[in-house]
Amino acid sequence: MTELRKRIDEAVRFIRTKTPMEPSTGIILGTGLGGLAREIVPAAVIDYAEIPHFPLSTVESHNGKLIFGALGGKNVVAMQGRFHYYEGYSMERVTFPVRVMKFLGVRTLLISNAAGGMNPQFSRGSIMVITDHINLLGDNPLIGPNDDTLGPRFPDMSEPYARDLIALAGEVALDLKIRIERGVFVAVPGPNLETRAEYRFLRFIGADAVGMSTVPENIVANHMGLRVLGFSIITDECFPDSLQVAKVEDIIAVAGKTEPHLTAIMKGVVERL
Ligand code: HPA
Repeated sequence: MTELRKRIDEAVRFIRTKTPMEPSTGIILGTGLGGLAREIVPAAVIDYAEIPHFPLSTVESHNGKLIFGALGGKNVVAMQGRFHYYEGYSMERVTFPVRVMKFLGVRTLLISNAAGGMNPQFSRGSIMVITDHINLLGDNPLIGPNDDTLGPRFPDMSEPYARDLIALAGEVALDLKIRIERGVFVAVPGPNLETRAEYRFLRFIGADAVGMSTVPENIVANHMGLRVLGFSIITDECFPDSLQVAKVEDIIAVAGKTEPHLTAIMKGVVERL
């Protein structure tokens, strides 16, 4: 048994002393997007600090809690507050909670993030369903010896975001009369935002939105055979020829303002899973 697998089992064993729930859906809430957590009828709330091997969140806008409960009639586990590579955690630690979720029973993972919009058809406050991604983090959570009990050495990534879940999100948004965009997400390490030349490059290589998260969690989820649905809230417009100064407070404010719509969509998706 690998050290990683031992750490996962220890975390799972601890969580089992707090709740017997076997959530079928996992949810990772991004920057300024904690509101969905309030929709969950909680059965157990566990501070990350209590869970063996869980990293601690260092970004102030993130709360570090694992919330177990009912959402849309389903058992879910939500991470309120996630870990970013730029905080200095290894990829393995950033993605550790996703590993744990799998062994708690999760089969479907919903991820949200705040992202910069590079597709000129998007505007601040747009909601983008992630159809595919590009990993420009310069690292990968699967580097190192592969644990075959977790997943294959060379996982397939032909459908990193499940097509039927993307379609379901579209149906839910249509029913709710909420406009959504679809597009490719590119992950960069950050923590600085990008230069104009970088936005031009990222757009050129095929990305519609840019952020600093989600891809590590997605890779690990795919490694373990979880189905993933991802959403980006476009918090700032990253058009190289008309770039404005982006303030983190504004990014968080836009995320907060758009969040009720995204929360409604995510809740609707969970109901229909
Ligand atoms: N880059 C640019 N703008 C952003 C990002 C990013 O990573 N995240 C949220 N807005």
